[in-house]
Amino acid sequence: VVPPVTAVPLMGFAAIAANRLDTVTVPEGYSVSPFLAWGTPITGTYPAFLADASNSGAEQEMQIGMNHDGIHFFPIDQRSAGENSTEGLLVMNHEYVEPNVLHTAGPVLPRPADQVRKEIAGHGVSVVHVQRQSSGEWQLVNNSPFNRRITANTPMELSGPVRGHAKVLTKYSPDGSRTRGTINNCAHGVTPWGTYLTAEENWAGYFMNTDAQRPREHSRYGVRTDNGRYFWETATPGADQYQRFNASTLAAEATEDYRNEPNTFGWIVEIDPFNPDSMPQKRTALGRFAHEGIVFADAVEEQPLVAYSGDDARNEYIYKYVSNTPYYHNTAGGHLLNDGILYVARFNDDGSGDWLALDVTNADFMAKASAAGVVFSDQADVLLNTRLAADVAGATKMDRPEWGAVHPDTGEIYFALTNNTSRTEQQTDAANPRANNATGHIIRWHERDNAAAMAFDWDIFLLAGDVGTATPGTDLVLNADSHHASPDGLWFDPRGVLWIQTDMSGSQQSSGPFGNNQMLAADPVSREVKRFLVGPRECEVTGVIMTPDLKTMFVNIQHPGDRSAADNFTSNWPDGGSNRPRSATVVITKDDGGVIGS
Ligand code: FEO
Ligand code: CA
Ligand code: CA
Ligand code: CA
Repeated sequence: VVPPVTAVPLMGFAAIAANRLDTVTVPEGYSVSPFLAWGTPITGTYPAFLADASNSGAEQEMQIGMNHDGIHFFPIDQRSAGENSTEGLLVMNHEYVEPNVLHTAGPVLPRPADQVRKEIAGHGVSVVHVQRQSSGEWQLVNNSPFNRRITANTPMELSGPVRGHAKVLTKYSPDGSRTRGTINNCAHGVTPWGTYLTAEENWAGYFMNTDAQRPREHSRYGVRTDNGRYFWETATPGADQYQRFNASTLAAEATEDYRNEPNTFGWIVEIDPFNPDSMPQKRTALGRFAHEGIVFADAVEEQPLVAYSGDDARNEYIYKYVSNTPYYHNTAGGHLLNDGILYVARFNDDGSGDWLALDVTNADFMAKASAAGVVFSDQADVLLNTRLAADVAGATKMDRPEWGAVHPDTGEIYFALTNNTSRTEQQTDAANPRANNATGHIIRWHERDNAAAMAFDWDIFLLAGDVGTATPGTDLVLNADSHHASPDGLWFDPRGVLWIQTDMSGSQQSSGPFGNNQMLAADPVSREVKRFLVGPRECEVTGVIMTPDLKTMFVNIQHPGDRSAADNFTSNWPDGGSNRPRSATVVITKDDGGVIGS
């Protein structure tokens, strides 16, 4: 833990104005430079990025993926409790790919196998050994054994209650112990023992199933009935690793086809960045849904480990996991994520809240399931159908839960609720108070007694929107320095500044008063909010972390030029000219060498 920096102001920078520029804007006195853009070679034979996007699928497997999202900096000496701020492992998600930008002339149907291979390799996670030079510039450490690409084709292990269950047996893993790859990795998490967690969000759309009767494990999550999002199942020449995205029943037994393949997605995946030979673990006890990310309550010796994760879809839920065995610093590890109880949140209109167990050993839960006519055969069946279990329990339907963040001192938990334009006036409640909620809000709560408590108290921290938007019951009224919409990324730095990142749609950026997507800083006590960064055109600003000395900040810029055609790019960031846009990390420093945000 970094000692608190008390000699500098919490938010001393001058707020910047909203803008529609094709560049990254930061406050006076700060510098910003792109780093680790899509296509940067990081491993293997280090194939150079080709500006016309003519790199092959095999080359993409050795390069940084696309659409950077969640990110963390692990100091290189972290395993010995060190806090090195000039060398470490940057680990980041690559949520999805833009085929119009990924391929020289865009995607072709039916899909050529190498285009599909390249798209699969553009997904996943990058582990990058980085070092700050004496010039102040950050560089990749070439040939480091830690540099690693994990893709949508990397072998992974299923762990926890669902491992070996009948509903995860596939032709690839007839005993249901393994699967390949992780997809649509949005936000992330960091365990108290220093591993990286990546969250599988909108995985369902990558799969198709044409069966007349689709199982609830597919239909409740949106597995498609026509084709997968990128038509990977049509790759020609075909191969098992592509055809598995067709989850239709094609054979007599589940071990002869891929009907269960979608059931091996929708999980939180643990990756040990310091052990490059380790196999990623899908931690099934944490539930299966459109995991946005995961955030831990402060781990307390001899107490259960507690984590929170939101399901980012309209009218879905916020969950909490409580380990069955206590946390001990000296023995902490992935086993704590394999055995626990999953709860879902009910936000009562009086400002109280309850955690509702989703567990076959809980009599109240099983009585509700029975009354609803829903049968769960065992706990693995509950976890595979987490959304249905939460429906049955009577949880509160939220306005798209995105990132969570835990205040470093108070332990209060904040969650971004990005927007929900489908909520009607009749469907509003105190926790989701606006019909047609186009601009979103941030909710927060504190647990009664301790993190594992079954009850909490909540309030709304911030209603997002245009200048003049007020948050009832507070002094907060948004102004030209703070107006924004669709909060998504959240992170508390160790000083207690809440960083808020936005994911406004292309039309919300072009039609609204908010300008491009951005990052703001908020004081959780005074509710002062100030805009710190504006991204380039049609990007999303997502993922933020600092070095332990708080003097280097890394922020991810995802999908600049989001609405590009293969022959018409709507952003040329970061390379400029007429170049294709590239997702990238940006490195932010204060010109006087001080603490970021101060
Ligand atoms: Fe990938 Fe919910 O944002
Ligand atoms: Ca997000
Ligand atoms: Ca989002
Ligand atoms: Ca995104």
